[in-house]
Amino acid sequence: MWLRALRLENFRNYESLELELAQGLNFFSGPNGSGKTGILEGVSYLAVARSLRGSNDGDVGRWGEGGFGVGGDVITGGLSSTVVLRFSKSVGKEVTVDGEPLAKLSDLVGVLRVAWFCPEDTWLTKGQPAARRKLIDLTLCQLDPVYLSSLTGYRRTLRQRNEALLAWTPDEESDRIVEVWTERLVEYGSTVVAKRLEFVPRFSEAVSQYQSFVAAGDTLSLRYRSSVPLGDDAKDGGGRSLEQDEVAEMYHAALEKRSEDERRRGFTLVGPHRDDLDVRLNGRVLRTFGSQGQHRTAAIALKLGEAAVLDADGQGVIVLLDDILSELDDERAGALIDLVGGHGQALMTSTRPIGDGAGDEAVARFVVEAGKVERQ
Ligand SMILES: Nc1ncnc2c1ncn2[C@@H]1O[C@H](COP(=O)(O)OP(=O)(O)OP(=O)(O)O)[C@@H](O)[C@H]1O
Ligand SMILES: [Mg+2]
Repeated sequence: MWLRALRLENFRNYESLELELAQGLNFFSGPNGSGKTGILEGVSYLAVARSLRGSNDGDVGRWGEGGFGVGGDVITGGLSSTVVLRFSKSVGKEVTVDGEPLAKLSDLVGVLRVAWFCPEDTWLTKGQPAARRKLIDLTLCQLDPVYLSSLTGYRRTLRQRNEALLAWTPDEESDRIVEVWTERLVEYGSTVVAKRLEFVPRFSEAVSQYQSFVAAGDTLSLRYRSSVPLGDDAKDGGGRSLEQDEVAEMYHAALEKRSEDERRRGFTLVGPHRDDLDVRLNGRVLRTFGSQGQHRTAAIALKLGEAAVLDADGQGVIVLLDDILSELDDERAGALIDLVGGHGQALMTSTRPIGDGAGDEAVARFVVEAGKVERQ
């Protein structure tokens, strides 16, 4: 799949934009604040119905307007379909595919897949576990609707269970309420963990393919680190993957063990919201031992691995690279451009124009200036 046309209406600093994209690399250059990231953000709405820049829907619409629209023509297997997402503060978000409204936003899964890469991601392996969970979640949510609904259910239930724990008093009624939420939490949470356990080795393999790019001779490997003790078989998530019901049993036992603690502290202490992804370089945890350059190159391998996993079925993925070249030396930047070219379509931004030698005539060059885009 690839995106042939992108339309933005009252989106960030675009009043109205209609853009024809190329199937390979699309390169957007322009000064700071001209609207480059906004274009990639628009594409993220077509794929996951939200901003991958991390903004709220209410902040994305052009100042002074009540909402925004994003549209695109997606080509899959030679056939074109038109996706339109509209947001207004009064109605919320609505998506249509070829004019047919989708019952739920999650029905958009799989229509268009994206991998987003921005300079903050260079801290992926160094920063907090939340960033690494987000990487797994974003990838799996685009591949698996069951994962998306389980994760959504888990987050909702976690909030409710935490409220119940906070309000807990030592009586039967309080215990009963917490128990009700525990059952649901385990059901959703064990699905999330089992799917992550199944996914991480696949992801690790894809990431290790980019090893030579990371640094010749280095090995990068990933392991899922679960806050639920999973027994020796799946120690550190490095062993066999587990069925959902096996995880559920262990999750239950773990919550049971912490139940007094949880009631005292007023929140849920174990579960996929506290898990992590260990990234190891030559067997050592990068987070603790990595140099700046090692973090940076590992992040690129992770992101390219993500794109490869999203494209594993050959359906294609759009790689969105926001302002990433300035982080890299020329050799790595050139290698990155070649590698993303291998996955089909990519949209890349930079304040500087792409070098003339890079990618030759296959690159579609655009210049962005104060909310206007022109193809060169
Ligand atoms: N909701 C909004 N309505 C109108 N303009 C907005 C809105 N949100 C952001 N802007 C403006 O849109 C412009 C473009 O932002 P964008 O982040 O796309 O720029 P950019 O080209 O990526 O810049 P940089 O090179 O600094 O990353 C900025 O000037 C910003 O102030
Ligand atoms: Mg930007």
